[in-house]
Amino acid sequence: MNVITVNDEQEMSVRGSLILFDEIKRNPELVLGVATGGTPAGTYEHLVDKVLNEKLDLSKVTTVNLDEYVGLARDHEESYWRYIYEHLYEPLNLLPDRALVPDGLSEDLQAECLRYEKVIEQADGVDLQILGVGRNGHIGFNEPGTSFESKTHVVDLTESTREANARFFERKEEVPTQAITVGISTIMKSRSILLLASGPEKSEAVHALLSGRIDQNWPVTVLNEHPSVTLIVTKDALEKGEEDSNDQ
Ligand code: PGA
Repeated sequence: MNVITVNDEQEMSVRGSLILFDEIKRNPELVLGVATGGTPAGTYEHLVDKVLNEKLDLSKVTTVNLDEYVGLARDHEESYWRYIYEHLYEPLNLLPDRALVPDGLSEDLQAECLRYEKVIEQADGVDLQILGVGRNGHIGFNEPGTSFESKTHVVDLTESTREANARFFERKEEVPTQAITVGISTIMKSRSILLLASGPEKSEAVHALLSGRIDQNWPVTVLNEHPSVTLIVTKDALEKGEEDSNDQ
């Protein structure tokens, strides 16, 4: 694993955006797996600025969302379709026809999971997958205990995840209880992975990963088996963990 330690979230976002920019420049038809949530937002912002400044053409890039809430319409303020539209497609003035996102309103969620898995296969898989990590070690919405063999599936969100995401909603009760997520085996098929982690609340998960162990209770540790992972991690996401492990 290539570990890049940075001072703060701002630096993480700039470094992340440069990696994305270079990859898209190298391969204008990149299939980019996109995470949502707080962590990658700055990375997308810097990427958009650089793409506009340098007039890079993103019209042939395909984005593959990692997950979507069950029960939210595309245009709901907190849907992940809307997130990726607002963070990439709208500022770059791109038609969102290459934005692949699971349909959280599907009447047959199991069929939707199978369809989405097929859609990823038809795109010839993900070239570069951006990941954040949950404080409980989840990647995508693959919560602790999820099989490493899992493909795209419906998950019941843990209380910890719903609490963490309540900051985006007016009330915690509004956070959906389920989501569709790309599975761990699907994530592992990505040709390369860019993992971003910032803030002391991520330190336990980061330390589980950097311990080198493989532990189904910390889904992020599966990345120890992937041949091409870059982790950009802020100092505070490392330091607090050191204190924690000293306390034990
Ligand atoms: P966050 O979430 O970026 O909003 O902290 C990360 C995740 O849940 O994967």
